[in-house]
Amino acid sequence: MGVMRVVAVLLLLLGATGFVAAQGSQSADVPALDGFSRGRAGGVDVQWRVDGDMLEVQMAANTTGWVSVGFDPSRMMADANMVIGYVENGEVIIADDYGTGATSHDRDTNHGGTNDVTVVDGREVDGTTIIRFTIPLDSGDEMDKALASGTTYTALASHGPDGADDFNTYHADRGSFELEL
Ligand code: HEM
Repeated sequence: MGVMRVVAVLLLLLGATGFVAAQGSQSADVPALDGFSRGRAGGVDVQWRVDGDMLEVQMAANTTGWVSVGFDPSRMMADANMVIGYVENGEVIIADDYGTGATSHDRDTNHGGTNDVTVVDGREVDGTTIIRFTIPLDSGDEMDKALASGTTYTALASHGPDGADDFNTYHADRGSFELEL
């Protein structure tokens, strides 16, 4: 009993200090999509499915600013294959980015790469931003990571503060999880 109590207090302390916050307690509460897998980190609800040689992803977060996912980083944000988007005046603005350093990212197209993201749809509802897009599993672009069905990757998920309709404002939340394609 004593041990259980100590464990409970420790868990409470960890929760209070944010160590377990990446588990998604504040993630957007959006319906599960049929046939999609699901993960949560950094306050972002991520749902994905492989469709032929394409990867379809929905990202949702309680923000009116930017929302992002990244695949297969080497360290922090470095070398991650990232997609970052926001909804402004009902329109989805999206970028195909790459983790250019541990704490930086930039458009593939600024580094000799190509834009390989296609928007499926997106909207802002009651302060929640939901964006769905597709990318090729293997775009052939050196500024993307080739992804393979059946493989597990580290995924990053992050979002900006309310109103951050841009690609530069520092995150309001960020985290990572293991994603199996
Ligand atoms: C928009 C501009 C961005 C800026 C200025 C920025 C800056 C930074 C900085 C300074 C850190 C290190 C300090 C910290 O841990 O908070 C960091 C960490 C991190 N960022 Fe970003 N970031 C940006 C966008 C993103 C995006 C789009 C993602 C996800 C797809 C992301 C995911 C992460 C993650 C997961 C970490 C923690 C990595 C770790 O501790 O291992 N960031 N970022």
